[in-house]
Amino acid sequence: MLHALELDVSLDASISAFLARVYVLLGADGRLDVVLNNAGVMAPASLVELTPLTSYQRDIDVNFMGAVRIIQACLPLLRPQRQQQQQRRPNEVSRGARIINTTSFLGRVSPFSLSAYSASKFALEALSHSLRAEMRAQGVHVAVLQPGTTRTKLGGHMSRGMDACWTAATEQDRRRLGPTYLRAMERSAWMLDLFGRDVSSILPEVEHAVCARWPKSRYVCGWDSFLFGQVLPLLPAWLCDFGCLIVLGWPRPAGDDDTAAAGDSSAASSEPVSNEEKEE
Ligand SMILES: NC(=O)c1ccc[n+]([C@@H]2O[C@H](COP(=O)([O-])OP(=O)(O)OC[C@H]3O[C@@H](n4cnc5c(N)ncnc54)[C@H](OP(=O)(O)O)[C@@H]3O)[C@@H](O)[C@H]2O)c1
Repeated sequence: MLHALELDVSLDASISAFLARVYVLLGADGRLDVVLNNAGVMAPASLVELTPLTSYQRDIDVNFMGAVRIIQACLPLLRPQRQQQQQRRPNEVSRGARIINTTSFLGRVSPFSLSAYSASKFALEALSHSLRAEMRAQGVHVAVLQPGTTRTKLGGHMSRGMDACWTAATEQDRRRLGPTYLRAMERSAWMLDLFGRDVSSILPEVEHAVCARWPKSRYVCGWDSFLFGQVLPLLPAWLCDFGCLIVLGWPRPAGDDDTAAAGDSSAASSEPVSNEEKEE
């Protein structure tokens, strides 16, 4: 039977309420087979200097801390599988408990303007590495699902917020960065949309991670995930940066003409704004 429960992974109270419902549904001898940490948010694409602190906090809280909260809460329900496996008949197929963390190729390489999201996914990668080693002896398999660009709500959040970050920047910042910056950001959003595949392309990998007798430690979904997540990080930093810049565009300070154009097109106040104000 399928049960859908509401959960906010960024709230301890929500996790406790969720877990209480899970214990009731599973009953006294109940156990969990699989935990798939998939919840994710993406802060608006923006340069480090313009990104509000709250964007960093939000991405870390949901994408990283959310997974930590869920893993700590669910581990006691996953562990009993070990004993139950040992009691199985020798020829009985046992699939074992597993934790699957959805990271991203942006958890292996961090291009310009995506530092908040990338930081949260790098952190989730680190967590997954440690957890994999810690859980090995406890019979819980840990895998990383590393999707490439997929057309979902996530990309929409990124590009919609981009304009908001630009509008919230001071006029001084807009003049300094100029339209070249905006063009690079637009190109980056356009390229991500161009690469984007349908979400169904990930499903075979998810099915393998959940059901296969011998699950992999990492599921690299799509050529862009392979290129950005597996190949580029192996290259020297300058070549890795160059690869990202070629594909995603090149933000550079405005020239004189650009500066004038940015000044003309900007309607916002020249007063500096605080991080809290930038968020809105
Ligand atoms: N799309 C891509 O190109 C891409 C690439 C690599 C990795 N990923 C990763 O894949 C995962 C799924 O993302 P998606 O692309 O399918 O985006 P999505 O359509 O926006 O789905 C994200 C899901 O996370 C849920 N969520 C957000 N905040 C939450 C919270 N505080 N508590 C519980 N659930 C929360 C959302 O719930 P609501 O619907 O209720 O908001 C939604 O169901 C994410 O971890 C993302 O980082 C995506």
